[in-house]
Parts: sequence; C-alpha cells; structure tokens
Amino acid sequence: RVIHLADYQVPDYLIDETHLSFDLHEDHTLVQARLVMRRNPAAGDGLPVLMLDGQDLELLSVVLDGKPFLDYQLDEDHLSLQPNAEAFTLETQVRIHPESNTALEGLYQSGSMFCTQCEAEGFRKITYYLDRPDVMSLFTTKVKGERKRYPVLLSNGNPIAQGEEGSRHWVTWEDPFKKPAYLFALVAGDLWCVEDSFTTCSGRKVALRIYVEPENIDKCQHAMDSLKKSMRWDEEVYGREYDLDIFMIVAVNDFNMGAMENKGLNIFNSSAVLAKAETATDAAHQRVEAIVAHEYFHNWSGNRVTCRDWFQLSLKEGFTVFRDAAFSADMNSATVKRIEDVAFLRTHQFAEDAGPMAHAVRPESFIEISNFYTLTVYEKGSEVVGMLHTLLGPKAFRKGTDLYFERHDGQAVTCDDFVKAMEDSSGLDLTQFKRWYSQAGTPRLAVTGQYDAQTKTYTLNFSQSCPATPGQPEKLPFVIPVALGLLDAQGQELPLHLAGESAPRGGHAVFSIDQAEQSLVFINIPEEPVPSLLRGFSAPIKLSFPYTQDQLLFLMQQDSDGFNRWEAGQQLAVQSLQTMIAQVQRKETPILNQRLIQAYDALLQDTSLDQAMLAEMLNLPAEAYLAEIATVADPLAIHAARQAARQAIAEALFDSLWLRYQHNREVSRQTPYVAESEHFARRALQNAALSYLMLTERPEVLAACLVQFQTADNMTERFAALAALVQSPFEAERETALADFAHEFKDNPLVMDQWFSVQATSPLARALERVQSLMGHSAFTLKNPNKVRALIGAFAGQNHAGFHRVDGAGYRFLADRVIELNGSNPQIAARQLTPLTKWRKYAPERQQQMKAELERILNSGNLSPDVYEVVTKSLA
Ligand code: ARG
Ligand code: ZN
Repeated sequence: RVIHLADYQVPDYLIDETHLSFDLHEDHTLVQARLVMRRNPAAGDGLPVLMLDGQDLELLSVVLDGKPFLDYQLDEDHLSLQPNAEAFTLETQVRIHPESNTALEGLYQSGSMFCTQCEAEGFRKITYYLDRPDVMSLFTTKVKGERKRYPVLLSNGNPIAQGEEGSRHWVTWEDPFKKPAYLFALVAGDLWCVEDSFTTCSGRKVALRIYVEPENIDKCQHAMDSLKKSMRWDEEVYGREYDLDIFMIVAVNDFNMGAMENKGLNIFNSSAVLAKAETATDAAHQRVEAIVAHEYFHNWSGNRVTCRDWFQLSLKEGFTVFRDAAFSADMNSATVKRIEDVAFLRTHQFAEDAGPMAHAVRPESFIEISNFYTLTVYEKGSEVVGMLHTLLGPKAFRKGTDLYFERHDGQAVTCDDFVKAMEDSSGLDLTQFKRWYSQAGTPRLAVTGQYDAQTKTYTLNFSQSCPATPGQPEKLPFVIPVALGLLDAQGQELPLHLAGESAPRGGHAVFSIDQAEQSLVFINIPEEPVPSLLRGFSAPIKLSFPYTQDQLLFLMQQDSDGFNRWEAGQQLAVQSLQTMIAQVQRKETPILNQRLIQAYDALLQDTSLDQAMLAEMLNLPAEAYLAEIATVADPLAIHAARQAARQAIAEALFDSLWLRYQHNREVSRQTPYVAESEHFARRALQNAALSYLMLTERPEVLAACLVQFQTADNMTERFAALAALVQSPFEAERETALADFAHEFKDNPLVMDQWFSVQATSPLARALERVQSLMGHSAFTLKNPNKVRALIGAFAGQNHAGFHRVDGAGYRFLADRVIELNGSNPQIAARQLTPLTKWRKYAPERQQQMKAELERILNSGNLSPDVYEVVTKSLA
C-alpha cells in the first residue's frame, strides 16, 4: 500500500491525555491505555468512525466512558468504533509479546532488559492509538515488573509515584510536555547508572543519568562529557535551554539504528554511547560525541517542534544533522569534519540519488516509512539547511531558527513552516529554493572561465542540469549558492567586483546561481585568475571546471579554503586513478601520476599543516566513490588500480612516511590517551602512515606494527595495527594477531564487531569464505543488528573486490541473508539490500547476476513491506 503526501488530512480525533500501564512478565506483557479524547475541531462536523492503529495486539477489553464496549471492528491494522460524543474516554487492554519481538520495533527485550523503539510507527505494536506525529498528547506511564529482575523502571518525564506489590514493584512517570507517540519510551532492567548534573543558563539544575548494564559502567564518561558539552553549545549557539529536571540515556545492545531522541529518555545503540580508550577507537569516540549531541539537539528540533507527518522527516533530521555537524566542527577540526561529511555524502548519498530508491528530501510517497530514514533525508537534508545558512548568513539564520522555535513550540509542522520562518527573518523569497525539498537527484553545474586581458574582466559561465529520477523526468533550475574566490598567481584572493555593482564584495563571496544558464562578470581583474569554486562545498552538487593539472596542484598548495585544498588533491587523484583503472582494464601496468606523488611529498614535508588535514589529504578517493563517479563501474579494476596507487605512494615516499610515523608513534607512546582533537590528529597521521608503510612489506615496518599492536594502551593504535596486519601478506602474524585480539576481547561485543569488520573488509582472497565461516563464530548472531552490519554489511558494502567477485557468489550470499532477515527483522533486511540495488552501475554480466538475486528475493514469498518496497523499486 502506497502512502502519498498529497493525501494528508488532519486527524479526526485528538488525544489530550494518554495514561498507560504496563505489567511486564517473561512470557507476555499487559498494556492498559486510557485515552482522553475529543473530536478535532479543525476536522469538520459530525462524528466519523474512530480508527485506531494497532498491530500484533491481542485485544482483551474495550471500555468507553466507563462502560464495557463490544460494538467495535478489528482488522489486521486497526480497531474501529463509533464514538457517541464529541469528547470521551476510551480504555483498552491488550496483551503483547516483547519476548518474541525480533523486529526490535515497539516494546522488545534486549538481553535481560525491556526497551522500546517507537519511531516511526512502532507505538501501534504497543497499544491501539492514533499513531501519527500530529496527534500530541500528555502521557503518564506506570511500569510494573519483578523487583529483582527489573530494579530500574523508566519512562519519559519525571517519576511521580512508586510502590511495591509482593515481589513486584512499580513506578509512575509523568511527562509534562505534549508529544506524539513516536517519542514514547519505556525501559526496565538491572541497570547501573553514571550520574552528573548540568546547570542551565537560567540556573536550573538538571540531573543527568546514563544507564548501562553493570559491565559497561566504566565506559560512560565520554558520553557524559559529550552530553554536557552539547547542552552548553545549544544554549550558546541556538539559545535552546533544556526543559525537564532529568535527562536520561540508556544503552541497549540490540538496536536497529544509532539512537532515538525519546523525550527525556534517549535510547541508544550501545555502540553510540560506550567509549573508553582501551576499547574504542578515536572514530568511535567522535561518533559517540556526535550522536549524543544529535539526540540531545532533537529535544528542540524534533520534540518541542515536531513533524506534521512522516514526509516531513527531514524537518527534524536534516536540521538536527546540520546542528550536530556544526557542534562537531566546533569541538574538533572544522575543515576535517567538513571533508569527512562531504566525502560521505558524495560517495553514498549521490549514489542513492543516482539509483532506483532516489527520492526528494521531502518524498512524495512511500510504502514503508522505515525505508526513508535515508542519506537523502538526513545528509542531503542537512546540506539544504546548510545552504539556507549560507544564503542568509549566520545572523539572519539564527533569527530564523529563533522565530521557528517560538512560533511553532508545541506544534507538529512542515518543511514549509521552517522555510517560512527563514523567509520572515531574512526578507528573502525562498520559493525557488524550495525545489531542493521536492526535486530528487544530484544537480550538475558545469562551469567555464574566460579571461579578457583587454577589458580586464573574468567571466564565469554556469550551466546547470539535473538527471531524471524515478517519477521525475524533468527538473527545474535549483538555487545553488556558490561560494568562491579568484586567486592570483601568488595565491592571493582578488577583490570580487561584479560588473554593474558599485563596490567589490571582498575576496570571498557567495553567489546564487538560479538559472539554467548564467554568467558572472568580474571587473578589474589584472591577470587570468584560478577560480576556487564551491568553497566548503557550499551546495550538494557535482561541479565541473576544466582545471589543468597545474591549476589543481596550485589550488592544493595555495587555496586559503582548506576544504578546496583537499578537493583539488582529490580531483588530481581521481584523474590519475581513472587513467590507472583504464590501464588495468587493458591489462597494462598501472602507473601513478608522478606529480601527485610530488605533491604528497611536499605535504609531508610541511610540518605546519594540521596533521588530521594531512591524513585526509593523503587518503585516496575510496573505491566506492570511484565506482559512484564511473559510468560503468568495474570494481575489480578499481580495486587493483587503487591498490597499485597506494603501493606506489608507499614506495616513493617511504622515508617521509617512516619519519612521520616514528615521530608520532613515539609521542603517542609517551602520552596518555586523550580524546581530543590534537591527539586525534596525531594518531590519524600516524596510522595513515602505518597503513601505507605496511604495503612495502619491509621487516622494520612489520616489527613496528607488531609492537604497536601488542603494546599500545589504546584501541585506536591497536586496531590500526591490526587492520594493517589483516591486509598484509604476513599470514602467520596476521592470524596470530586476530586470534590474540579475539581472545582478549571475547566478552566485549562492540570490540568483537570491529574484529568481524576488519576481516569482512579485507581485500585478501577468499573474503567471502572467511565471512561465511565467521557466521559460525560463537560471538556472531543474525539477531543482533550490530553483528549483521559488522560482518554482512561491511562485506557487501565495503569489500568491493570480495562482494563483486566474478562468479556472483557474493550476491548470492547477500540475497540469502536478506531472505533470512526478512522474517526476523525487516528493517535490517531492507537496509542490507542496498548494495544489490546498485546493479545498474555495473557491466551487463554483473547486472544479470545481481538482478537474478533481487528476483530470487522477490519470489522467496511472504516479503515484509520493507523488503518488498526496496526490491520492487530496484527492479522497476
Ligand atoms: N530519530 C532517530 C534519529 O535520531 C532515528 C530513528 C530511526 N528509527 C527507525 N525506525 N527508522 O535519527
Ligand atoms: Zn535524528
């Protein structure tokens, strides 16, 4: 069944109060709901039939205004009845089975605890309800369970009562803020907590608690620090103060996504909370900081102001990703954060835009909303908010967010409401800009430059287009903010003086390109400049400019925009790698461009350069990115070419790399682990160098790698050494390291996830066989989403050579796993499908093989809506 945005109607009824009571047992749970309801005055006259959502519920009783009520209808997804008054109270009792809920949606058990995941439509698996975000209600929740098993009983808001009943006990929670059902949460378990407090800008003291299973109590401090930083940052940067007396985070091992912003009770995948030096890498520490911030920021962008319907998902997600990215940029290196985000967007979101699941930031229709928690809604959505920030400038943007929060506090609104607040704060007309919300696909912007020495003018010609996407054959021009500078031969920015304007705009400015063809004429340009275009990646587009190699090398060394220095290096590397890919395809020896090597050497000599930035600049474009930009992707040739390039760099720059490695390793050895940006930077360069150096197979490098693996006091260094060993031909050392590591960390599931991934992504031969045998490892289970992602997701999504092996065994393997997961966890099954949906990217033979697997899934019977939607759209 397809749901369309165009069919939106306001709800017929409202629920002013929701009183829930849970009785938790090992073999079932009883849920009572008392809903204080009334006719929605905005919905018209009469008393239509009330249709409550409900799935997999065993209905035990219905009481209407205090009297048992029997005249109701039930179908698979609804309880329907005819109310007899404008206002009424409806009570239901249902029995549910969290203990056998493998989909991890609604109320379920993870290990020995109970927890919930209600976004988007999980609440209907808990009780009959109007499960839509524009129905906002005041909740009280009584949770009752066995005291010994579940000493901790949590829900949203503040605890207001508790009591004992024999071996059982109960706690009642009250949430003073109206919220939609998707923000409901309940947790019960034997949990310990780390406690702290935060005093808000107005002087209120908020209790902060992070609840975890006892063995993880030593891994909460980093998340707590991140939470306090987030709370302060949101006050300072957005003027947003926290609103309850208590803020709780709970870590759960079995969780479909990263985390969830339930009001006052965030529930997290344990991988997004737990971090300490000995068991989590720098990347994991940064991910925890970012996700803690993201969920916390949702308290305003999502909870206080929520979405009218799920088509508006990017209203809260795009905005909140934009907010968490700005936070991370402030906490760490802003340029490196931008580089990472852009590389991710261009590799994965651009691929989504180019594939069968392409959709607008605000989609028009869907079958299963869970499939639309996408890179487009999140990451491209964040870029759209970022473009508003760029076009309005920081001041008007902040005025706009203030206005948005004030105007819509307590409401469920749309992306149009957000843009309207931006229009009202800035005076800009954003009508055309809104095409970013409705048109799918990645716009192309072809740019050329023309210098006229006679008139001393420089003209930039822009030509924009956007490829067709499913259901959208034609696109209208976007508003593309292009941040740019024009550099003279010394690398200095020339004043940007547009013909017809009275004064120059400075050396760096943003120009709005909003027509299919458009030119900018700059006057008083004394010499032919090198343009630095789309600085900071000011729009999520594919820009092309016919740079010469000399110009790219110049930008790589000279641009004052750090992002564009990296970007110039990437473009040079892409050009060279594309040549090498063609050489591999012709069975010639692939030769890396010497000038790229020289440029890398110059970077390595420059000790003033930020080390994290240097590590990024030395990192060649990923195989997935090379596949994305190829017309026909040849994964084996891409892999061979990139490996050859890495090898050539390692050999040519051995001495410089070895020097930088040894120096940084020595500092790391003498420094206790600190999760802060300068330390991240040092280790990033150290480990990037190690990874190159190991390709030379020199004995002194192997020895250093083994020492780092065996003696480092932190996971960042240990894991980097392990990864380098796993990709090396030193079989004995590799296998010993893997076995030692597994032995040491067998009781830490998050570290074991890393151990699975590092093998799944290894480019060595027989990767598939290794993955298959690892599925039998005692630490592996298909029931845990993190394990599925660590082994199966990592193999199919990141090991291009292994997954795309010519006999098609990689495709068959993935399809088998999807068919299995479809029955137990549809959300995870649908996500694992992504690599197969890209079949059009490959040559005919692979296309046939991949399509055949999609068809096999389609015909495997009894598909969940999640898998059905992805498979059918991919084959369409
Ligand atoms: N709102 C959560 C976030 O912070 C994600 C929840 C996704 N849930 C789902 N069933 N798809 O991004
Ligand atoms: Zn979110």
